[in-house]
Amino acid sequence: MEETKANTKKGAATDTDFDYSVIDEILTRHGAQERAIIAILQEAQERYRYLPAELFLYLSQKMKVSEARLYSVATFYENFSLEPKGKYVIKICDGTACHVRKSIPILERIRSDLGLSSEVVTTEDLGFTVETVSCLGACGLAPVITVNDKVYPTMTPGKANELIEMLKEELKGGNNANDNA
Ligand code: FES
Repeated sequence: MEETKANTKKGAATDTDFDYSVIDEILTRHGAQERAIIAILQEAQERYRYLPAELFLYLSQKMKVSEARLYSVATFYENFSLEPKGKYVIKICDGTACHVRKSIPILERIRSDLGLSSEVVTTEDLGFTVETVSCLGACGLAPVITVNDKVYPTMTPGKANELIEMLKEELKGGNNANDNA
């Protein structure tokens, strides 16, 4: 395993410190074939939490697919992100059911607690990313937010504040209770 990692770094497509062993493992599992592009990108995003630029040249070489093709897939699907995301990705639902049950004050409270805005969605320390979504499929529990896909139902600005404080403590202590990994 260590040998693979070391060899991979030596043979990397760029001379950065990027760890290619993760993507090598994914490629081995799916096969470096064009038909697996989406599955490979999905899993790469789960592991890296976004699609780093280093991946595209590397995948292009390994899969014999143009970088343009890879970028076109990555930018077509909303779920792919080319920007680094925080350790905790918080999604605030603003679909109809959540909106009428006052999701906006929750969003505003979370942004304010984290110093974020509609333009700046990820904290500088890469601790948190805050996004809005149109429906999380749990309308009966509105207003709903998720943290790394864990659902928090019937939220209020106060509950959101408590949750953010708890997550900040987790970040400080390295406790991964809200990690899906
Ligand atoms: S509208 Fe929020 S979960 Fe459906």
